[in-house]
Amino acid sequence: MNFREEQKRKTERIEAVIEKYLPRQEGFQKTLMEAMSYSVRSKGKRLRPMLMEESFRLFGGSTEVIEPFMAALEMIHNYSLVHDDLPAMDNDEYRRGRKTTWVEYGEGMAVLAGDGLLNLAFETAAGAFRFASDFAASGRIAQALQILGNKAGIFGMIGGQTADIEAESGEREMTQELVLFIHEKKTAALIQAAMMIGAVLAGASKEAVDRMEKAAANIGIAFQIQDDILDVTSTTEILGKPVGSDEKNHKLTYVTMNGIEKAKEEVRRLSEEALGILNSFEYKNEFLCELVRSLINREK
Ligand code: IPE
Ligand code: IPE
Ligand code: MG
Ligand code: MG
Ligand code: MG
Repeated sequence: MNFREEQKRKTERIEAVIEKYLPRQEGFQKTLMEAMSYSVRSKGKRLRPMLMEESFRLFGGSTEVIEPFMAALEMIHNYSLVHDDLPAMDNDEYRRGRKTTWVEYGEGMAVLAGDGLLNLAFETAAGAFRFASDFAASGRIAQALQILGNKAGIFGMIGGQTADIEAESGEREMTQELVLFIHEKKTAALIQAAMMIGAVLAGASKEAVDRMEKAAANIGIAFQIQDDILDVTSTTEILGKPVGSDEKNHKLTYVTMNGIEKAKEEVRRLSEEALGILNSFEYKNEFLCELVRSLINREK
């Protein structure tokens, strides 16, 4: 099977896993549940659950314990996007080829849909304890929950979004260090959660988890630089979201600071470094390496 076919097959499987954990749309909160599903069911790349499962496999993981975490991380990612698109943040009206949640359901419902997804994520991930066969397995799940909270929160994604908003106002001087901080936190943190949780749940050593954290930082920063490149060079039809969003919001990105060519070079350099780390383990996962390579030239 070639890489693209395998990726498609895996994406479909991930979607089936996520689907299992979405709430039934009923009761007085029905509209909210619809808004939550509207975001999660729209066609994302499912990169984070895929990186999580492949990191799990890299270290020999094979049980169902990973599934609640895969669904949880995709919920957190979707909540971050629902809030990121709000008028108070990036004020964008399209995502994944259709109207953003706030345009479709109103701002209040979009705020709550994000909140709902964040809480459902932890409720879902905590369900992994039912797959724990012994005390050690429970300990790994507890550690994975802690990583999820840390990387999604003020020390991770939320921290990065905060700096991103402040940088936009122009009050703070934009330095390479600050751009890197924003990329690492707002985007790489959830990718780190994916790869670290995969490793932890498979029983990888602390040293191996630390190396996965570093590889994921590189992959995530490269991923955001590429997102910023596409915001300039792509089209709304291909991306499924508005191009020029960063310029509209006066965002200083790696691209505005260094130019497209240097940015492309950096995406490649960071990805190669990440691949070097992934190849340094005793075990191998060729699909995972191929996935990371495919992100270098991604068009959406
Ligand atoms: C978009 O993430 C937000 C960024 C961190 C750049 P993705 O490009 O993974 O979005 P979907 O899930 O595929 O729509
Ligand atoms: C996304 O950064 C970071 C998040 C944590 C949601 P962007 O604002 O560049 O993402 P897009 O371009 O809207 O997907
Ligand atoms: Mg943003
Ligand atoms: Mg945005
Ligand atoms: Mg963007």
